[in-house]
Amino acid sequence: MSFNNLDQLYRSVIMDHYKNPRNKGSLETDAVTIDMNNPTCGDRIHLTLKVTDGVVEDAKFDGEGCSISMSSASMMTQIVKGKKVEEALELADIFSKMMMGEEYNDKYDLEDVEALQGVSQFPARIKCATLAWKAMEKGVKE
Ligand code: FES
Repeated sequence: MSFNNLDQLYRSVIMDHYKNPRNKGSLETDAVTIDMNNPTCGDRIHLTLKVTDGVVEDAKFDGEGCSISMSSASMMTQIVKGKKVEEALELADIFSKMMMGEEYNDKYDLEDVEALQGVSQFPARIKCATLAWKAMEKGVKE
């Protein structure tokens, strides 16, 4: 696939998550709640996680933000569901390295998350992409 086609594919994956967010909403019972905002723009995420016996059983998010922040939240909830807490933290570390343009461990299938790798070339948008992941890291550590 040529570079342009790949770029086009990634764009459409991002827009699909933005327009049809996965796991949108809020878990009502037995959930860890994390509210976080991006200080540079004020956009915010409300994340709820259900963690049972060291496994992220469920995750939902709500909030207001740009297409990058909201699609990243949608992708993050999709990939961490069913993962162990250590795996979720490892994925957050991988995502952070991806955003910094650094080498990262390729032991996981990153699924749609790969579509965000181009964000690393736009430093002003990195905080948009990492917002949901930072909220998740905070939540699973609680
Ligand atoms: Fe606010 Fe992207 S511009 S999170």
